[in-house]
Amino acid sequence: MSANPTTVSQPAAASTPDTNPSRRGFLRTSTAAALGATMLGQLSVARSAHAAGSDILKVGLIGCGGRGSGAAANSLNADPNVRLTALADVFEDRIAGAIKNLSMQYGDRVDVPKERQFVGWDAYQGLIDSGVDIVLMGTSPHFRPQHLKYAIEQGKHVFAEKPVCVDAPGYRSILETTALAESKNLSIVSGLCWRYDYGVRETMKRVRDGAIGEIVAIREMYNARGLWHHGHDPKWSDMEYQMRNWLYFTWLSGDHNAEQHVHSLDKGAWVLGDISPTSCFGLGGRQTRIDPKYGHIFDHFAVCYEFPNGVPMFAYCRQQDGCAVETSDTFYGTKGTADILNNTISVKDEPKWKYRGPTGNMYDIEHQEMIQGIRSGNIINNGHYMANSSMIAIIGRMASYTGQVITWEEAVNSKEDLSPKAYEWGPLETPAVAMPGITPFV
Ligand SMILES: NC(=O)c1ccc[n+]([C@@H]2O[C@H](COP(=O)([O-])OP(=O)(O)OC[C@H]3O[C@@H](n4cnc5c(N)ncnc54)[C@H](O)[C@@H]3O)[C@@H](O)[C@H]2O)c1
Repeated sequence: MSANPTTVSQPAAASTPDTNPSRRGFLRTSTAAALGATMLGQLSVARSAHAAGSDILKVGLIGCGGRGSGAAANSLNADPNVRLTALADVFEDRIAGAIKNLSMQYGDRVDVPKERQFVGWDAYQGLIDSGVDIVLMGTSPHFRPQHLKYAIEQGKHVFAEKPVCVDAPGYRSILETTALAESKNLSIVSGLCWRYDYGVRETMKRVRDGAIGEIVAIREMYNARGLWHHGHDPKWSDMEYQMRNWLYFTWLSGDHNAEQHVHSLDKGAWVLGDISPTSCFGLGGRQTRIDPKYGHIFDHFAVCYEFPNGVPMFAYCRQQDGCAVETSDTFYGTKGTADILNNTISVKDEPKWKYRGPTGNMYDIEHQEMIQGIRSGNIINNGHYMANSSMIAIIGRMASYTGQVITWEEAVNSKEDLSPKAYEWGPLETPAVAMPGITPFV
């Protein structure tokens, strides 16, 4: 099962040359904003060719695990003219598994010969330089800022799984890259998938249009059980152990209030118009998942956020087996309440409203809308809200780890960079479990 990364070689970056003139024309539409008026005649031809859906879009995946492979499948489901042409992962075995599973389902639409399989720490660069049009990012969250920056610099459209950063330097980098993508007219579609669920969207729209009056409070819950653990092969170095069990290391996952609870925090921010809190305080710790194999993350958090409009958001999450499980988003307004995941709105003396419109697979819809945007020139860029919601998770962790009230200004300017000294296989100490009142804010 384990690839020994020290013996895995990085194939030379292979390219898939663009020989099809209409395809080259289409790719130019991505930079339409930057082009002069004289070019626009050519672009409209290219656009209409692509709008008909006749051109092949080449997709590459960085991070060939469960969600990354799922995103590749969603992309292939979204449009018959998508081809998966490149895969990248730090571990060779993950690539082999992804190719096997995806080929069984999608046949020759999965076209990833050895020279477009990239292994190692710099695999992402090989993939981005391999001639793909769209890059799917499904690694652990730590790497998202670095990978997104390079992909946008190289002119690629991106689908980026959540969360997109684990610390403030990562957040600042995502904001810079978002602005760069805007200037280059490139897509950044976020894996905050509930934003692409028809029922959640319609319920949210009604609430934002005033269905429950003014919002006075928000309650977010992601109370779940424990997640997977991949064990410990004695051949693995510390770094390999942490990379394979990345959930349990804050530098890789951001802790579970970021890795998992960001879905809920994102809905709280969304209903308020994607504003940022002014400050928060948080309680948290590690009670049941205390075995060292679980790294150093907490197993529960309770964070109270204050927003500039005076609205509090009470946010709870836990990963403890044997406890009550609930994932919900409840908004309290001056006229009533909304239960977002159940798609219902309750107003006193009125029948309860429930969404009964079309449904669909939100994971496929993310990719359908991304590709429609690319083909039509109506590029989607979710960069601002995905950065804001990820940072809301990070400030909650900072407050809970330190036991201090942390302001947004302090948090976004934090100097704490969770990156290891080097990306290399070998010893890597597990940090101490954070202790409120002792762990400093950096
Ligand atoms: N939107 C959702 O509903 C949802 C669901 C599950 C996971 N996720 C997110 O998707 C991401 C991946 O989660 P997963 O469950 O698929 O994890 P996973 O461990 O199954 O897959 C991650 C893969 O990325 C690879 N990887 C890590 N660092 C890399 C690097 N620097 N370069 C190349 N490859 C690298 C790993 O080797 C692994 O194969 C996470 O951000 C997670 O939060 C989102």
